[in-house]
Amino acid sequence: MVLLTRRDAINARITSKNKILAVLLTGVVFLIVPILIIILDPIHLIIKYKLRLTKGSILYELLQQEMQAGRLSVYVFNITNSERFLSGEDYKLKVEEIGPFVFQEYRWYEDLEPSEDGTRMAMTAKVRTEFIPEESLADPKDVILRLPNLPLLSSASLLSNYPSFIRSAFNLMITPLGAKPFLNLDVHNFLWGYNNPIIKILNGLAPGVVYFDSFGLLDRLYDNTSDYRIEVGATDKDRFEIKWVKKYRHIKMGGIEDVEESIQTFNNTYEAEGYPPNLTPEVPINFYRLGICRTFALQYIGSRIMDYGGEALIYTISNDTFMGEVDPITLKPYPYGVIDISKCYYGLPFVLSKSHFIDSDPILRERLDGLNPDRDVHINEVAIDRRVSVTYKTKLSLQVSMMVDDVSFNSMTKMLSNTVIPIAYARVANQK
Ligand SMILES: *[C@@H]1O[C@H](CO)[C@@H](O)[C@H](O)[C@H]1NC(C)=O
Ligand SMILES: *[C@@H]1O[C@H](CO)[C@@H](O)[C@H](O)[C@H]1NC(C)=O
Ligand SMILES: *[C@@H]1O[C@H](CO)[C@@H](O)[C@H](O)[C@H]1NC(C)=O
Ligand SMILES: *[C@@H]1O[C@H](CO)[C@@H](O)[C@H](O)[C@H]1NC(C)=O
Repeated sequence: MVLLTRRDAINARITSKNKILAVLLTGVVFLIVPILIIILDPIHLIIKYKLRLTKGSILYELLQQEMQAGRLSVYVFNITNSERFLSGEDYKLKVEEIGPFVFQEYRWYEDLEPSEDGTRMAMTAKVRTEFIPEESLADPKDVILRLPNLPLLSSASLLSNYPSFIRSAFNLMITPLGAKPFLNLDVHNFLWGYNNPIIKILNGLAPGVVYFDSFGLLDRLYDNTSDYRIEVGATDKDRFEIKWVKKYRHIKMGGIEDVEESIQTFNNTYEAEGYPPNLTPEVPINFYRLGICRTFALQYIGSRIMDYGGEALIYTISNDTFMGEVDPITLKPYPYGVIDISKCYYGLPFVLSKSHFIDSDPILRERLDGLNPDRDVHINEVAIDRRVSVTYKTKLSLQVSMMVDDVSFNSMTKMLSNTVIPIAYARVANQK
């Protein structure tokens, strides 16, 4: 009875305070929650009640509003001895990180659709980025670096196991282009894509592999020619647990047609914001980031009192995540420390690792100079508030590299056969 009255009172307040609460929470949906709880405990109840993920709930409305998400600091590896390496004078490729180039991510969801029984919610995840000049080294358009020719190297790598007549055709077709394995390119084009004839040629020789003419590192990650539809749990037990992700590609033929491209299903996997209520270190959780197409197992490493006064469970990416990977083409095992992300890059031979190959097989650095695997600089940590199971702080530092296969069939690329080329890394920080 007492409880009922309390709830009634809360309900009345919710109606009158809906607007204020919505404003309070906008843009900081999950972030401010733990802080509010510390300050005003009754609000805890309101939030618990109103943060249900059902049609018309505050959370339902908030998910559709654009909110600030991760801040991405990108560092690109400049190659400083390309000529000496190609001539065979230098055994090690010298790299130097240049950055940061800082981008702010904004995320929101569209077309929210509760399942019939109300236990799940499907929605289309949207993301856009904005360049933050005042935190960046310079305008990416003004920074010209010596960079690997990713279209050339990845095409050659991809074709390394194709029949020899196809490889010969590739050699014939690219010779007149005068493509070199390293080129001078500004960072903007490198990240966001430039039209590339080699990708067109690859498209012709290995149809269906790649469907784009331009190639950029982030451009692929934030590929806005595709939509990601995700379904998450909406009950108290599994709120925000990802059930599946479907990728749709827009194909323009007169109008826009959606083609379902792939579907992934998951267990115990979350999209980095909310985790199951009453989270304890024993509960297995995985982390998924749209665009990366792989999940990361989180490993509990301890708890800490955070600056807002609440206790957070601290997780890092489990070492297991980076174990037991194989080259998808040759099926040869990769050294530990990398995971294959070729699926996110249309079969091109990219891998993800901790930045500067921290906690990785030293063989990955054997032919590289200039890496500095410092654990204190490259932190991978997720802090989740214990009381409400929402992420308070995320810090990730991950690197993309290319695993070049045996590309000796092409005279331009042969010196780079079986090498690992670090391309760029990004630190993602998310503080609520
Ligand atoms: C990148 O490396 C090239 C040598 O390959 C060098 O000339 C250039 O100055 C470097 N750029 C930066 C920004 O350090
Ligand atoms: C995709 O992003 C590019 C560059 O930001 C933009 O010009 C284009 O209009 C976007 N396309 C869609 C379908 O949103
Ligand atoms: C999820 O768990 C179920 C039952 O344990 C299993 O059959 C299924 O293969 C798992 N799915 C994934 C994607 O791991
Ligand atoms: C991962 O492995 C490295 C050694 O390779 C070790 O120092 C580190 O503590 C491990 N991380 C975790 C979370 O177990």
